[in-house]
Amino acid sequence: MDMLTVTDVRKSFGSKVVVDGLSFSIPKNSIFGFVGENGAGKTTTMKMILGLMRMDSGEILVDGTKVVYGNTPTNRKIGYLPDVPEFYTYMTPREYLRFCGQITGLSAKEINPRVDELLQRVGLANENKKIKGFSRGMKQRLGIAQALMGKPMLLICDEPTSALDPLGRKELLDILVASKDETTIMFSTHILSDVERICDRIAFLHKGKLALSGSIGDIKKMNTKEEYVVVVQNKDDSSLLQMQFHNAVKVDDYTLKIHVDSENSVRQIMQFLLEKSIAIERIEKCENTLENLFMEVVGK
Ligand SMILES: Nc1ncnc2c1ncn2[C@@H]1O[C@H](COP(=O)(O)OP(=O)(O)OP(=O)(O)O)[C@@H](O)[C@H]1O
Ligand SMILES: [Mg+2]
Repeated sequence: MDMLTVTDVRKSFGSKVVVDGLSFSIPKNSIFGFVGENGAGKTTTMKMILGLMRMDSGEILVDGTKVVYGNTPTNRKIGYLPDVPEFYTYMTPREYLRFCGQITGLSAKEINPRVDELLQRVGLANENKKIKGFSRGMKQRLGIAQALMGKPMLLICDEPTSALDPLGRKELLDILVASKDETTIMFSTHILSDVERICDRIAFLHKGKLALSGSIGDIKKMNTKEEYVVVVQNKDDSSLLQMQFHNAVKVDDYTLKIHVDSENSVRQIMQFLLEKSIAIERIEKCENTLENLFMEVVGK
């Protein structure tokens, strides 16, 4: 059974449709990347999964149990790290996690070993200063530990890496990977390299609809379009190329993207460059990155 199933969920604010018939599922013990540009509807979807926001229609199941707005029993199975986590900053991380354990309903016997284990996992075991003095990276790591306190079956993190530097992001992603055996993970982001690094499956949300979803491998295979970038040394030559290859797209005065198919082979491009003695800066194949795909999906 899947850990999370979202079926045809809709949500509008006034006349603005924010989530528009969204369906996807997350298999158990996988890491799911929820990708979308600002305002795509990621946070809204997560809040509906948590029963913190009412959906207009559709159904959400967490481990087979239906989510009900307001007071939902499914939240016992979920750990949540919001986009801007708030802490009692006068506490040390150890005090804070103990406190979270108490309100989660863990027994006194369970709390200390769990706090030790999690502080170790998030690299804060030797951190005895108050949360007040923490960096953003430290706060996000503590936030993950807090969300994992109650051993949730599903961990939902809203843009956990967005405000972090490359090292902070790597540390955070490593923590998610280290937690994969004990929980299913859903995290939202607009940083595609993060998704590429750790996710099993991804979904691209665009204007409240699912533009693309599947395993990273499958999604990359979908992108069958083959393109070459040609950078010329002389401005006029780019116009010459554009006249010859009708599907060439101008990136700037010197750079063209040429779509390769049965009509325009790479050989034909090379031949033309030689025939016309066009001096080139470089010619290279466009990488099939998620970044390119995402741009294609959102039509940029
Ligand atoms: N309570 C609200 N009332 C009215 N409009 C809202 C409300 N919450 C969100 N919206 C609108 O819904 C749209 C989706 O917002 P949401 O926060 O879900 O996007 P997001 O994908 O999380 O974006 P971001 O990457 O910026 O966090 C936005 O246009 C936002 O302005
Ligand atoms: Mg958001």
